[in-house]
Amino acid sequence: MSRHDFVDCVRRCRPAVVPSLLMCDFANLEDELRRLEAADVRLLHLDVMDGHFVPNLTYGLPIVEAIDRTTSLPLDVHLMISNPAKYVQRFVEAGADQVTVHIEADDPIEQVLQQIRAAGAAAGLALNPPTPLAKIEPLLPLCDTVLVMSVMPGFGGQAFNPVALQKLKTLNEQRDAEGPLLEVDGGINDETIGPAVESGADLLVVGSAIFRHHDYGEQVARLSRLARQHHVAQR
Ligand code: DX5
Ligand code: ZN
Repeated sequence: MSRHDFVDCVRRCRPAVVPSLLMCDFANLEDELRRLEAADVRLLHLDVMDGHFVPNLTYGLPIVEAIDRTTSLPLDVHLMISNPAKYVQRFVEAGADQVTVHIEADDPIEQVLQQIRAAGAAAGLALNPPTPLAKIEPLLPLCDTVLVMSVMPGFGGQAFNPVALQKLKTLNEQRDAEGPLLEVDGGINDETIGPAVESGADLLVVGSAIFRHHDYGEQVARLSRLARQHHVAQR
């Protein structure tokens, strides 16, 4: 899917609940993907960690490639790695429709965002809870999505940090119709999804609030309903 198709797809389905495949059963990945498709999710969020940028390791190119081979859902790949410049092209080749990199990474991020778009994918820029918006403002024209972290990245199941809400509100007020999509990641559940949507989030990444339950369909449906209710209330 091209960058424009990805952005259009998100604009059409927002607010969207986006499952994060961090806590799924990797021994039964195909089955997990079918369950998520049956739950009517519109895209998938893949958390790549290098044990360096964050104190945890997850998975990399072979798993992204295997997921791409197994589902036609668009893939939103969140790179929590110190040196994304070396890898973004390969993640796009592996099937990423959007690649998100962190402003706190070591590489020159302006160039990395350009690399992602040149490779044909949508470019996302993430910032951690302590990082001020001022750090990313000059780069906004290069971003298809801004990913506002509501936890310190590394682990699922952490509590939502409300500092994300103010950032979302500010970004939402500043953007016009062509402005970046807004995504929030970490601690999204029944209580926090409403405030996140009301603050402007289009994409709601959800890990534990889906995968800790047996019935993914029920979780996705309830969270999506809450998101839509708050989306209407926001207007
Ligand atoms: C955090 C990851 C998230 C996270 C979401 O390091 O980027 O995608 O696993 O999980 P929950 O919803 O459990 O916070
Ligand atoms: Zn993530």
